[in-house]
Amino acid sequence: MDIKASSVLITGGASGIGWALAERFLKAGSQVIICGRRADRLQEAQQQYPQLHIRQCDVGQPSERVALFDWVSSNHPQINVLINNAGIQRRMQLAHSQPDWTESQPEIAINLEAPLHLTSLFIPHLLQHPQAAIINVTSGLAFVPGAFAPIYSATKAALHSFTMSLRHQLAGTPIEVIELVPPAVNTDLGGTGLHTFGVPVGDFADAMMKGLEAGALEIGYGTSETNRTASRQEIDEIFRRMNSRM
Ligand SMILES: NC(=O)c1ccc[n+]([C@@H]2O[C@H](COP(=O)([O-])OP(=O)(O)OC[C@H]3O[C@@H](n4cnc5c(N)ncnc54)[C@H](OP(=O)(O)O)[C@@H]3O)[C@@H](O)[C@H]2O)c1
Repeated sequence: MDIKASSVLITGGASGIGWALAERFLKAGSQVIICGRRADRLQEAQQQYPQLHIRQCDVGQPSERVALFDWVSSNHPQINVLINNAGIQRRMQLAHSQPDWTESQPEIAINLEAPLHLTSLFIPHLLQHPQAAIINVTSGLAFVPGAFAPIYSATKAALHSFTMSLRHQLAGTPIEVIELVPPAVNTDLGGTGLHTFGVPVGDFADAMMKGLEAGALEIGYGTSETNRTASRQEIDEIFRRMNSRM
């Protein structure tokens, strides 16, 4: 894809991986819109890059997804790339406590329903462009579940599955369907300090931009590349190793 002259909407773009991608698209020359729930983070981002467009939005809420689409399509009709990046991660022990559904449901709404819904809202709009892309941010845990985060892992596996079907259905249209597959990356995912063991977010984002520029459709990095390409036997082995300390 053209990283230099695109017009990109990044959900959850004010921090972590979304912000690292936003900065790189901006520096390459693309136009960027980011959205997220925290107005202060969005404003800080815009202070750093005045050309950045921001929109407060909770993608966990269906009505806010529709409002986001309506706002973007009327105010920034040139948008040709949707990056479904917003996500949350909750750790839970299913044997020891009954998860509160009012806390579990938002993880499914944000990680899975939002990309599915935004994709269906944006497809007719993106089809009007000569070149467009839908980029879904999944996880290495889509391929080998992290048992410590069972709902999270399930949402990412489902998003990976959906992305494959979407790519098949949109083949032959102007919309490329791309999956970014992060390994553990040092961001605030799940809460401050839980991912400090992860790879530096800048290194990860640089690799993703390189993959996007090269036209790759499913892009892993480090351990997520291992997970993404593992055989069933290897998946079982990685799963055992990764989850042995639980
Ligand atoms: N870091 C990792 O190790 C890792 C590994 C694999 C996959 N990923 C995936 O990478 C993506 C980005 O995560 P990250 O690591 O960058 O975590 P992060 O630093 O916590 O960033 C997540 C972003 O999503 C936004 N967000 C969360 N819920 C939202 C909602 N309901 N509506 C709108 N925006 C929302 C947050 O902003 P607000 O809180 O302001 O809304 C934040 O900007 C996620 O999909 C995550 O699952 C991360």
